[in-house]
Amino acid sequence: MLAAILAAVAGLMFGLDIGVISGALGFIAKEFQASDTAQEWIVSSMMFGAAVGALAAGRLSYGLGRKKALVFSAALFVLGAICCVIAHSITLLIVARAILGLAIGIASFVAPLYISEVADEQRRGSLISVYQLMITIGILLAFISDALFAYSGAWRWMLGIVAVPGAVFLVGSLFLPDSPRWLMLRGRHDEALETLASLRTTREEAESEIRDIAAGLQQKQRGFSLFLENPNFRRSVMLGIGLQIVQQLTGINIVMYYAPRIFEVAGFGQDGQMWGTAIVGLVNMLATFIAIGFVDRWGRRPMLIAGFIIMAVGMGALAILLSLGQDSGTMMHYLSVGVLLLFITGFAFSAGPLIWVLCAEVQPLQGRDFGIACSTFTNWIANMIVGATFLTLLGTLGASHTFWLYAALNAVFILVTLAFVPETRGVSLESLERKLNQGVRLRDIGR
Ligand code: BGC
Repeated sequence: MLAAILAAVAGLMFGLDIGVISGALGFIAKEFQASDTAQEWIVSSMMFGAAVGALAAGRLSYGLGRKKALVFSAALFVLGAICCVIAHSITLLIVARAILGLAIGIASFVAPLYISEVADEQRRGSLISVYQLMITIGILLAFISDALFAYSGAWRWMLGIVAVPGAVFLVGSLFLPDSPRWLMLRGRHDEALETLASLRTTREEAESEIRDIAAGLQQKQRGFSLFLENPNFRRSVMLGIGLQIVQQLTGINIVMYYAPRIFEVAGFGQDGQMWGTAIVGLVNMLATFIAIGFVDRWGRRPMLIAGFIIMAVGMGALAILLSLGQDSGTMMHYLSVGVLLLFITGFAFSAGPLIWVLCAEVQPLQGRDFGIACSTFTNWIANMIVGATFLTLLGTLGASHTFWLYAALNAVFILVTLAFVPETRGVSLESLERKLNQGVRLRDIGR
């Protein structure tokens, strides 16, 4: 239960942070007279901080332990939110957002790791999609709170309100037990057994699991050295990195960060912009349930391909609508909302959750921490690049061509999926690992 609650709150923080800036940005730009570049940096400094946080998270969670790393990230999160409230210049705001980023970079690596180490086996699998669901709920809550505060233009409240769930997370994480697997990793066997016994129904269960953990730890985790010497491990790491680049280049976060701006370009007034954005958040959350329900029935590849087709069509249609210009009437307003929602649906049932699922599945046990750290880091860097270039693209290419670009990228990802992505549905992680090590083509390691 504790682990599930934690998953919820850490995912929620991730989402709140992604979502909150879209509604605040316009007001911030007005107050500080921020240029497009300055706005891009206010948005992207968080992703930069998150990338750094994800890189540092491996060491922190090994040295301090998973629990203390989470407490640390929650404290940073509250600090970052407070700094956003009092920031009186663009530079300070950028620094404050980078602090927030550090916090979610650490949490986005440590929380799923911690959960997978304390949850029992039957519940481990569904947790990744549920984690994504929590991200989308966080985004939705942020969009709604933005819409409410927009009437008064109170952007400091928009950014500050996330300190509340942050404080809940901070207090909650203080009461968490240490991860038994981490205690074993540090040679604290007795404590590990006591902790696990308190998490399982019977002592026998805990004892047998401790024996499994001990056996698993015989195989020492390796990282960069394994990457250098084992070409098959290099392939799985590169697949994880590639998948996360693909996820971000779908353009999902230009919608998450700049939705009100997109609605503005499409001709909506302020109310329409804010509530349109909230609907985007709602659809993003609802469509995630499709993935949770069907990913183990339909498989990863068909769902990803369907998602990319829908996203390419959505972006292409938006490009056409925007090229018609703002004056083409109310019909065009509603159509542009429709195609944006189509795009979001395509993402939320495919690339949103499935990329995280695949990234966790394809790494061999011995290099799992390193492999997942590399792909998580890439997620944030790619996220930053997309966030940091969107307004510039709008300014130089124009809105229509910018969306054509993303439509084309999504079309290319259909081919990328066909060429490289394995079908991992119903396949054991051991079997994936064996095929990978035999040098089988990536897209066939699930066969
Ligand atoms: C992505 C985030 C994105 C979110 C949207 C996640 O899977 O990693 O970058 O903002 O989905 O729901």
